[in-house]
Amino acid sequence: MRHIFPSLLSVDFLNLKHEIQLLEEAGVDGLHFDVMDGQFVPNISIGLPILDAVRSTTQLPIDVHLMIENPENYIETFAKHGADMISVHIESTPHIHRAIQLIKSLDKKAGVVINPGTPVDRVVPVLSMVDYVLVMTVNPGFGGQTFIDMCASKIKLLNDLKSSFNLNFNIEVDGGINDKTIDICAKHGANLFVTGSYFFNHDDYKTVTKILRG
Ligand code: DX5
Ligand code: ZN
Repeated sequence: MRHIFPSLLSVDFLNLKHEIQLLEEAGVDGLHFDVMDGQFVPNISIGLPILDAVRSTTQLPIDVHLMIENPENYIETFAKHGADMISVHIESTPHIHRAIQLIKSLDKKAGVVINPGTPVDRVVPVLSMVDYVLVMTVNPGFGGQTFIDMCASKIKLLNDLKSSFNLNFNIEVDGGINDKTIDICAKHGANLFVTGSYFFNHDDYKTVTKILRG
């Protein structure tokens, strides 16, 4: 089963409440919420006031993707403001176990993220602890970029590790996901799909959700 998480980075913020209602009606599985600090990535996006607004209007799971330096300083705050899933980049902290433990201690789903240039080896030490691994299929920072093909082999490698060691984590992909690249990622073992520009370029969210589910 493919779980679809539209990325709110591409939503029409002037109509946020109505848009979220349309996403609920379309049957999406959750909302992806991109937090950027202008340090870890060269862009600044959305933060706590918008998360509060989203949380106040939906029961859908909110998947917070922290693209920030020192993420451990903000995990508790994002959990308090309504995140259900929180992911942290392996490249953003030398203390990844502490960060994952903190997310789990707050009863939230914990994810570790790897950039396209980071080898899968780097996340092996936390694979038994995380609920999901987010494989970036673009360099993070902006919506609307092109899917990087070589990332598919990283999904496969993670999926192989998962079977070999009998582990339970989900594999999420983010960046350049559309009706074609989703098939590639699903074939290699991904099951959670973030989609921003492709999804929101459609007027009918029910139809695009159906297309992406395949
Ligand atoms: C990029 C963000 C993504 C972004 C995806 O750094 O992490 O979640 O919104 O957008 P698309 O689907 O347009 O690549
Ligand atoms: Zn993201």
